[in-house]
Amino acid sequence: MTQIAVVTGATAGLGEIIARTLHGAGYRVAVTGRNHARALEIAAELDGTGETAVGLELEIAKRDHFEAALAQVVEKWGRVDVLVNNASVTRAQPVLDITTEEFNEVMAINAGGTFTGSQVFGRYFRDRGYGRIINLASLAGQNGGTATGAHYAASKGAILTLTKVFARDLAPYGVTVNAIAPGPLDSPIVHRTIPADRMPGVLSTIPVGTLGSQEFVARTVLHLASPDAGFVTGATWDINGGLYLR
Ligand SMILES: NC(=O)c1ccc[n+]([C@@H]2O[C@H](COP(=O)([O-])OP(=O)(O)OC[C@H]3O[C@@H](n4cnc5c(N)ncnc54)[C@H](OP(=O)(O)O)[C@@H]3O)[C@@H](O)[C@H]2O)c1
Repeated sequence: MTQIAVVTGATAGLGEIIARTLHGAGYRVAVTGRNHARALEIAAELDGTGETAVGLELEIAKRDHFEAALAQVVEKWGRVDVLVNNASVTRAQPVLDITTEEFNEVMAINAGGTFTGSQVFGRYFRDRGYGRIINLASLAGQNGGTATGAHYAASKGAILTLTKVFARDLAPYGVTVNAIAPGPLDSPIVHRTIPADRMPGVLSTIPVGTLGSQEFVARTVLHLASPDAGFVTGATWDINGGLYLR
């Protein structure tokens, strides 16, 4: 059966690659983002007929956007099978410089958005008796972060905990909830955060000596999204070049 997925923050970076990867694997995909024009553009590139891809506005800090996206996809394709909570803001700032307002803003978007998405879709998946939720966490949520700020790291730590709570409570209903915790990827945000002259120093701290592949992370999302991934839940899969060893 054709699988149907909603990807948040799919208008750039990893989210766009995840949406393209799922679509390439035969999924029907809702490309969502706060930049609606870009979401529409990517969906049109994937499928100009609109049959297998749709672009939706979804600001993850807004519950009604999640509710509207769910309703629109169900109306269009009859159901949803997969939610990928990918959208996040990435901030780099020394901990002593972060204001309370900045801390709360990043927590509200990253952790709050993942909570809201998981709750809105989790209720729907529970009632259907099937669903897959995949959260993009981060190595920063495990080790406190290297190039990123405390607000970002704390929000990613919260996502790891939310993954376990939703996984535990939804497991009896055929719904799995997992997280992926990437280390620094070969991605635009990493190249913006780490200036070129600092990159060799950063690479020298990564045991495997390279940045990670966004495409590999996207294929990992695909793996966790598949119907036969039902025995994996509450897990965090590390993709970090050996930077954090459990
Ligand atoms: N790249 C890495 O090395 C790395 C490492 C570890 C974890 N991750 C995680 O992987 C995910 C994707 O990262 P990325 O590198 O692709 O980051 P990115 O390039 O900054 O892209 C983030 C995406 O999320 C969207 N977004 C941000 N705030 C949003 C909001 N409030 N509502 C809806 N969409 C919002 C952005 O839209 P706009 O363009 O409109 O801002 C963009 O499409 C994130 O969860 C990140 O924490 C990435």
